[in-house]
Amino acid sequence: MMGRGFEQTTVVQQTHRFMTSCAKSMALCAESAVQANMVKVFSAQVKKNKTPNKVKDFKPNSLPCLGNLKLVKDMKLAKDFQQFANYLPWGFSPRTIDQGEHVAIMDFSKMFEMEKVAAGLMYVDVYSAYPEHNHPPDEIYFLISGTAKWRWGGHRHFRSITAGNLIYNYPYNWHGVKAGPTPVLALYIQVM
Ligand SMILES: [Fe+2]
Repeated sequence: MMGRGFEQTTVVQQTHRFMTSCAKSMALCAESAVQANMVKVFSAQVKKNKTPNKVKDFKPNSLPCLGNLKLVKDMKLAKDFQQFANYLPWGFSPRTIDQGEHVAIMDFSKMFEMEKVAAGLMYVDVYSAYPEHNHPPDEIYFLISGTAKWRWGGHRHFRSITAGNLIYNYPYNWHGVKAGPTPVLALYIQVM
């Protein structure tokens, strides 16, 4: 759905500023050399994309689950996100068949030239879940908003984690999230 007043250059700048702020916050949260290095690789890609000619052409694609965007407000970062979130090229998660009813993914490579990392935003609507899964690459999630219970890092059970935290999954760790009364917004990074 094309949002009203969409201006691609502005959305790119807002998104880039948001990614830069997330990268800085994540660098402060990293608890190990491995995590710090993943953030560093992501940050380098963000910096590289400051050059406008790296930006790709994209179309906004808002999904039904984004109707609760106004509830994404746990941190300043989350409030900034609300300003442009509807104009991003959101897509479905390959791990659900809900067609964007509950879960939306925004892969940064749809907008920017990203090398060496698979990174983007995961949005899970209120009282919805992102299915438990695992995979060979390790993965960082930076929690930007949402009252939620997460399974991560080799733990068997779901536990509450607040916004502003970074969680790390070793290769093949089972992980997933169940949102509560506010939507989950998280930035994920896998280094390839
Ligand atoms: Fe994952």
